[in-house]
Amino acid sequence: MENRDNRDRDDREKSTAKRPEQSIENRRAEARLQRRKRVQRQRRILGIILLFVLVGIVFAAVIRFRGREDAAKNGKASNESGNLQDTEANAADSGELHLELSEADKYTGDLILVNSEYRYHVEENEELVQLVRVAEAKKGNYTVSGPEVQLAGRVMEPLERMIAACEAETGSYLSGISSAYRSVEDQQALYEEYADLYDLEYAKAYVANPGYSEHHTGLAMDLSIFYEDGSEGTFSSSAEAEWYADNSYRFGFVLRYQASKTEITGISNEEWHFRYVGIPHAYYMYEHDLCLEEYVDWLRSNTSELAPIAQACGDETYEIFFTANTSVPLPAESEYLVSGNNVDGYVIAYKRK
Ligand code: DAL
Ligand code: ZN
Repeated sequence: MENRDNRDRDDREKSTAKRPEQSIENRRAEARLQRRKRVQRQRRILGIILLFVLVGIVFAAVIRFRGREDAAKNGKASNESGNLQDTEANAADSGELHLELSEADKYTGDLILVNSEYRYHVEENEELVQLVRVAEAKKGNYTVSGPEVQLAGRVMEPLERMIAACEAETGSYLSGISSAYRSVEDQQALYEEYADLYDLEYAKAYVANPGYSEHHTGLAMDLSIFYEDGSEGTFSSSAEAEWYADNSYRFGFVLRYQASKTEITGISNEEWHFRYVGIPHAYYMYEHDLCLEEYVDWLRSNTSELAPIAQACGDETYEIFFTANTSVPLPAESEYLVSGNNVDGYVIAYKRK
């Protein structure tokens, strides 16, 4: 009996001795489980936070990209010849447009002043000019003196419109191009040829110093008369010359060397030499009888970002101003033209809406 009691007690003791161990194990297991759950919960929360952050970043990137696209679209510098200037335009949050201009931009564009004082900057323009062979690129039926005659590609369209208008309005189909782009070497050869053929004084009066000629720009051309048999006539004093002098501005060209401006330009009267400057500038120069030297000076002295000058061109009105600033605010979604003046700053023309 006592033995049995002892055995029972042993069993009881054994069983009561096991219970605390089991409960610790259980508690540990429970704790481990809780820890695991806590960690899993934290991971889930972290994952959700990360997802939100990622979505936010992607969203911000899309908005930024769209903004840039819009700025590029809205602010793309364009002109009637389809030239897109290589300037940066950024739209601020307000929608205002900002042109960011570089030092090199001072020496490129449709309005650069190239004369005996201001050389043509070949290096800044090399990639921008994109010369085309007129005889190959032309659509009109006008004559070009040879296959080597080249112009800046962006001038082709306004040139063709101008020649077509001359044909339509005068009934003459004799207009053509006798000379256009010249390299510095071409100009040197021409200068020497003139000096040999005539004399140095004559060469200086009609041929710019190599490196200082508008013909380097690809924006200047000498018009001429070509008869059906291919022979060249005299452009000066012709009915065609008169028409171009009075109408070329409508297409963005100016008669560059007029008799009345010889003291300023340093070049004698050249009825045949036309220069593309862009429509708003050509209109202003024509209407106010200013040569390019005068116009560039006038803009510098009389206009600024805050005080542009308005110029009506047919149905459109441009606001034009000079600035020496490299960061230039413009109204939102402006369509604008920008050019260096090749001296000390930039000229901007934007369409009034
Ligand atoms: N005939 C103009 C002045 C030139 O040679 O550039
Ligand atoms: Zn010329």
